[in-house]
Amino acid sequence: MQRTDLNSLFDKAIVNVNGNLTTPQNAQISVFDRGFLYGDSIYEVTFSDSRSVVFLEEHLDRLENSAALIGLPLFYSRAEIKTEILKTLKQSNLDRTYIRIIVTRGDGNITLDPLECKNNNLVIIVRPLEPYPQNWYQEGVSLCFVSIIRNDRKSVDPNAKSGNYLNNVLAIKEAKERGYFDALMINKDGLVTEGTTFNIWIVKNNTFITPHLNSGLLKGITRTKLLEICREKNLKFEESELTPSDFLDADEVFLTSSTKGMVPVNKVDSKEFDVNSFKNFQMLKGLYQELIDSIKSNEDYRY
Ligand code: PDD
Repeated sequence: MQRTDLNSLFDKAIVNVNGNLTTPQNAQISVFDRGFLYGDSIYEVTFSDSRSVVFLEEHLDRLENSAALIGLPLFYSRAEIKTEILKTLKQSNLDRTYIRIIVTRGDGNITLDPLECKNNNLVIIVRPLEPYPQNWYQEGVSLCFVSIIRNDRKSVDPNAKSGNYLNNVLAIKEAKERGYFDALMINKDGLVTEGTTFNIWIVKNNTFITPHLNSGLLKGITRTKLLEICREKNLKFEESELTPSDFLDADEVFLTSSTKGMVPVNKVDSKEFDVNSFKNFQMLKGLYQELIDSIKSNEDYRY
């Protein structure tokens, strides 16, 4: 890619590399970095709205959990990472941003042995978060089950948000080639796990149902927050083992992620859904928006 393309893509973005603020064009890490060489890294994606970071503590909790799951020592303290995030946001001077926090196992000799590494590389990317196309939310998006299966929990655990996303890259590639918006993945036992960068839900008989963590998936922060809302508001919900046929039978289908929020699904494989009839989805979406609005006033996460 030409530098000029980068310019137009990341206009207004700020990058923090190991504490140093720079432009996307000048941001550099070593080619001996293990994230670059092996995908030996972890990351988080969240966003800010009205100059406040959304669910920052929850994302840092998950970053620490991902580090533990792949045995990646964190040489930056949580307080240091938080300070660097807020510093980058302040410098960006943007109200609403996409925030990507990457910690790699560091750089050293080219060897698979992780014990050789005595440092991390911490990279924080902040850029404007433009609203996604309105038609995703109004008309819904299409998904298909692809042939690529989600990594087994005994392989790279999908609950570790690692930089090793090749499996998911192959999944979305297959979905796009088949004309769908994105992909859903099953595990080796045929149970539904999640999408390539989102969790998945169905509604059946007014019950919100999402795949159980035992099926092997990322414990999405949005997923967790929605389950908490269901619990608090006495809405019926389940974390279950789901198969693709449960989706053909569903009343409503939607996906969730930090940056996309809640998006209705209008098609799964050849089964079409009328998203205008998604009453439960709309109700939960309203409650989720209320939650997001209520946390914006938290001074700890403002910049
Ligand atoms: N993706 N599952 C996978 C595989 C993900 O990569 C993500 C997040 C989710 C949803 O998690 P959360 O609600 O915490 O965002 C589920 C982010 C947004 C990304 O990689 O861009």
